[in-house]
Amino acid sequence: MRRVITIDGPAGAGKSTVARQLAERLEWRLLDTGAMYRAATLAALRAGTLLEDDQALGTLAASLSIRLPPGSVLLDGEDVSALVRSVEVTRASRFLADSPSVRRQLVAWQREFAAENNVVAEGRDQGTVVFPNAFRKYFLTASLEERARRRHAEFEAKGSEIALDSVTRDLEERDARDAARAIAPMKPAVDACVIDTTGMRLDHVIDQIEQDIRSRL
Ligand code: C5P
Repeated sequence: MRRVITIDGPAGAGKSTVARQLAERLEWRLLDTGAMYRAATLAALRAGTLLEDDQALGTLAASLSIRLPPGSVLLDGEDVSALVRSVEVTRASRFLADSPSVRRQLVAWQREFAAENNVVAEGRDQGTVVFPNAFRKYFLTASLEERARRRHAEFEAKGSEIALDSVTRDLEERDARDAARAIAPMKPAVDACVIDTTGMRLDHVIDQIEQDIRSRL
């Protein structure tokens, strides 16, 4: 039987690190759904698609091939792993996240992926909408200050110069939109285990989740 573990939560809560390392430890596949929204966003920016046009975005999304082999993001065969992390793509991703047509398409691909693999699925709506019957659900949070500090450090490590308060504002705005969205808003599933990672080392969070999973397998 294929199993799904969902890890949802706001940007910078540690989801990516936790999901990636958990998938490695369990030898399951990582389903980074944010990367799918980002890849579709990059394609829309390149094509000059009107970002407010749900139908046009949906048509574009349906024409794409988005693949997530371990460690990379392929858009129509091109490795766009670094490009999708840019500030420009991050800011524009909200239009694709708000588009019901895009969400329908990406959710279908996410379920196909999980039909073929045991997965650790990371995103905003994985436990609530995409995999309501997941084996185990987690929702990671952390204070805005800590999430902004983590994101800022990531940008600095990559050599991008961006001020901490600009990262904080972007995060705050993105979270508010993700939580207020009419379709698939970000929120913990009623049966999710909520973990506040403020002040916690992420390897300890991963240990805790791994133990919890292994005790149920
Ligand atoms: O997680 P990440 O920051 O890579 O996600 C990029 C954007 O994609 C988020 O800001 C969010 O709006 C959107 N997203 C979503 N649903 C998901 C994953 C990401 O709406 N399951």
